[in-house]
Amino acid sequence: MEIYLVGGAVRDRLLGLGVKDRDWVVVGATPEQMLDAGFKQVGKDFPVFLHPDSGEEYALARTERKSGKGYTGFDFYANPEVTLEEDLCRRDLTINAIAEDSEGNLVDPYGGQQDLQQRLLRHVSPAFSEDPLRVLRVARFAARFASLGFHIAPETLELMRELSAGDELSHLTAERVWQEFERALATQSPITFIEVLNAVGACEQLLAELCELDTTDAKQRSAALAARSSTAEQQFALLLAIATQNEGDKRAIDSIEALCRRLKSPNRYRDLALQLRRWHNALAGFESLTAIDQLQLIKQLDLLRRPERLAQLRPCVEALHLDLEITAPTLEPLLERLRTLSPQELMAEGFSGKALGEELERRQLAICAGLAAGNQSPDA
Ligand code: CTP
Repeated sequence: MEIYLVGGAVRDRLLGLGVKDRDWVVVGATPEQMLDAGFKQVGKDFPVFLHPDSGEEYALARTERKSGKGYTGFDFYANPEVTLEEDLCRRDLTINAIAEDSEGNLVDPYGGQQDLQQRLLRHVSPAFSEDPLRVLRVARFAARFASLGFHIAPETLELMRELSAGDELSHLTAERVWQEFERALATQSPITFIEVLNAVGACEQLLAELCELDTTDAKQRSAALAARSSTAEQQFALLLAIATQNEGDKRAIDSIEALCRRLKSPNRYRDLALQLRRWHNALAGFESLTAIDQLQLIKQLDLLRRPERLAQLRPCVEALHLDLEITAPTLEPLLERLRTLSPQELMAEGFSGKALGEELERRQLAICAGLAAGNQSPDA
């Protein structure tokens, strides 16, 4: 049997990038030989095995034939006769279809190295169209490699358009769509992902809420957020705040909730997006709020107990309000002062029940109003 390194590991090394996962392809072996060598089979029918020591994926060279709709509708044909070239031919992009043998020699039958040099995302063969997930994958690679100057070949864009025009995308599961979107959000150029989906007519079906995004403006804000070393959650929240900025609050919230429900996004993504959309104007103009509104915002966001929320929201607010100088962090010192108020002390002073709550709020408001000037009571 012959074993080759394939896919992202070869591509990223040739681009001079760090390699995370390594995928291997095995030519000329049977499942029995793999099991005898100590490999563990991943699925019952799937010709993929895990290495007994490294845990890395070793797939038997295979050809695929479409047998149904969507991402899962495939018949595999894995057989010791299947050649490396045949296996590489069923892959999505030429830059992902380069193999490397144990001596470091590259096998590149479809011009992957040349496309890497020319910064081209180009499909390997018509088999590209057998997997609709590839529309999302190519959009994600375009986002990931945007800063390196990569673009999508016109003939590949055409196949992506054809795939999007049919009903194939509707067979993708929410999990697969979310997985690609989430990975795109973690790239340097998440907006490129949306731009590509729009360009091939897939955005309306998959991420309708983001179709109308002003991508030039969004790119500027997304880059400003990335410059503050952002997370995928923050980029998600920013994108949705921009996309819903011209909608009334209720519609905007409904639209964010609908998208998160449909994509089954983790709650932490949804919560941050909702908090940002609801409160970014108040946070940006915090100094000019009344004491009552300041305290309401602090309570709604639970900032006294959850300071990490402010750390997450602040860079997003700054990216949304690029024209404002939000340099004076009045909120943090205010939170510090509010935290010095303790219900226990009020109890020691004789307050209890409803009166305790009222007195606490009165003192909190006094601090917000700046009346206390270091004391805890406006009357002090
Ligand atoms: N592949 C494919 N079509 C898919 C998924 C995967 O052709 N829908 C092939 C590609 O050759 C790809 C390889 O399988 O390079 C490994 O897939 P995966 O690990 O998902 O992606 P990587 O290319 O390794 O990229 P990443 O760095 O994003 O993991």
